[in-house]
Amino acid sequence: MKEDLASVLVSEEQIRERLGQLGDEITQTYLDEGIDEISLVCVTNGAIVFAADLIRHINLYVRLDCIRVCSYQDDINPQSEPEIVDNIRLDISGTHVLLIDDILDTGRTLASILKILRGFEPASLRTCMLLDKQGRRELDHDADFIGFNIPNEFVVGYGLDFAERYRNLNCIGVLKPELQNPPEWT
Ligand code: IMP
Ligand code: MG
Repeated sequence: MKEDLASVLVSEEQIRERLGQLGDEITQTYLDEGIDEISLVCVTNGAIVFAADLIRHINLYVRLDCIRVCSYQDDINPQSEPEIVDNIRLDISGTHVLLIDDILDTGRTLASILKILRGFEPASLRTCMLLDKQGRRELDHDADFIGFNIPNEFVVGYGLDFAERYRNLNCIGVLKPELQNPPEWT
């Protein structure tokens, strides 16, 4: 699988090192506010791998749930809002919510999920993104915690997919150009 990559942007070791730092940053941010419990909302499928590893570096009580959205990024209606296809079951009202997602690209997905979560009236709402792809932002949303800043390239691995493949790669990289549109994959 790794041989399908043209380049590795973030290595397995860099991810491992950053996870520890990020866990400490998150833990300290909440402890500084006297908060010892958070509700963590993971956006599936992309953030599953990241969230699974990250929660074990957060030294707070963590209640966990997932939310699934479907973004239609087609040419016909590129402005359409991502749709929530599976909402959270956890009662997050009055709790300190940390939303975890894989990548901040245009920011449209994040904006619509934040809107849904605000509707539950959490005590606070923060965001943690594995990757921040700057330069493509359409909305003025920045994440509170960011794993890595990356250039404007399509990346796969560590949860991120191309046609639902490569999520299980343990690094993050760019696919070889000739693999970016294999006709047999749907
Ligand atoms: P946004 O709404 O434009 O910010 O898009 C975010 C979503 O698009 C992410 O949660 C990913 O599912 C997908 N996405 C954006 N860029 C990439 C990429 O480089 N690789 C894989 N998926 C991506
Ligand atoms: Mg995807």
